[in-house]
Amino acid sequence: MGHLLIKNGSIITEKGLLIRDILVKDKLIVSIDSNIQKPNSTTEVIDANSMYILPGAIDAHVHLDLPTPAGNSSDDFKTGSTAAIAGGTTSVIDFVTPAKEESLLKALKERKEIASQSLIDYGFHMGVCGWNKNSASEIEQCIKKEGITSFKVYLAYKGSVGIEDTELIKIMQTVAKFEALVTVHCEHGDVIKALQTEFISNKQSSPIYHALSHPASIETEAVYRVLAIAKIFGCKVYIVHVSTKESKVLIRKAQLAKQKVYAETCPHYLLLDDKKYNLPGFQSAAYVISPPLRKKADQMALWDGLKKGTFQVVATDHCPFNMKGQKDAGIHDFTKIPNGAGGIEHRMSLLYTYGVLKNKITLNQWVQLCCTQPAKIFGLFPQKGTISIGSDADILIWNPHKISKISKKTHFQRCDSDIYDDIKIKGSPEYVIVNGILAFDKGNIVNQSKLKGNYLNRK
Ligand code: URP
Ligand code: ZN
Ligand code: ZN
Repeated sequence: MGHLLIKNGSIITEKGLLIRDILVKDKLIVSIDSNIQKPNSTTEVIDANSMYILPGAIDAHVHLDLPTPAGNSSDDFKTGSTAAIAGGTTSVIDFVTPAKEESLLKALKERKEIASQSLIDYGFHMGVCGWNKNSASEIEQCIKKEGITSFKVYLAYKGSVGIEDTELIKIMQTVAKFEALVTVHCEHGDVIKALQTEFISNKQSSPIYHALSHPASIETEAVYRVLAIAKIFGCKVYIVHVSTKESKVLIRKAQLAKQKVYAETCPHYLLLDDKKYNLPGFQSAAYVISPPLRKKADQMALWDGLKKGTFQVVATDHCPFNMKGQKDAGIHDFTKIPNGAGGIEHRMSLLYTYGVLKNKITLNQWVQLCCTQPAKIFGLFPQKGTISIGSDADILIWNPHKISKISKKTHFQRCDSDIYDDIKIKGSPEYVIVNGILAFDKGNIVNQSKLKGNYLNRK
């Protein structure tokens, strides 16, 4: 593969900014210094003058090729990782979602095969969707043999992947023994089911009833319950896609009391609100996600939580479905609309434009939230999440000046809609280097045939 030399960029670290050259050899960063000379005549040189340099971003919450009754999420590992690269993301953590009685290890093996078409490195959170006599030993093997350090549970989605509190307790007791992490979708699944049944029986079937069957209070309730149970069993928790101000307050309180709690929010909860459920016709179906979009006051609270460090991670929960042929499965019944929306391509630009440039977060916080902290929390640091000698050469070279508009017509995501369609952005990836290979060059994916993602064993 040879050498690649990046000249004159401003490296944004977790804490500061350094103007240095970076030398890459094969897959790794081998030197960071002033005025590095080309080691040989075949060295590829990238001029990063007036650009920022960041560690390749990590999206710690994506659902590529996720099977649902309306078909698989519309981005598979190839198209999703292509869109990720176009947005500056060079590693993803997806999910294994075994059926209730299925072996975790068998499901992992199958998921690894599906993910092997990824162009970027990938890891998995192991879903635990039930409890049986093998669960405890399988969790142990996932940790010890497969380097899986995070276990995902859903308190929503009762009747499919959602679990009972009795199961949550067993999972937390087991995971705590190995000092691993339980990541939780916090919503009260039984209340959702009861509200859905009531709305449908009253012929209230349009997308707005999705939002009304997922009220803010049932997220808050579940966050409170999870924090209380995790504290009793000494289990580290990571609350995914936090959407409400009340949840944020509870998480902050637990963190201040020294409980080991991490929290994630997503760009859509920071930037979009529940007015999207009043769009004409069936358009609001694009915004049918769980939890649903909330109020402006929640957005403000979430930004404040980013600034103050309540949230360690911004991830996308990328889970797109086409309007035609997928979301429209629920045209007469909102409960049949597949839950999810895309965003893997837009996270860095959205957070830069509406976070950094609006002084809601600093440049360094942008790097912490999207690159460094996900690597540290999920066992990938310092292989990923940092520009350091010896780290993987996943590098994002950011043009802070470029102005553009997100468009469903031009995005790389494979989906006929985009929840950020028509939103203006300032700042975009200029070049993206994946495992030492230039993969994105001023708007184009390049060297695609040379890109081959690896499974991330997070031991
Ligand atoms: O609506 C969403 N978020 N779909 C993906 C699955 C999940 O709950 O994260
Ligand atoms: Zn979820
Ligand atoms: Zn998700």
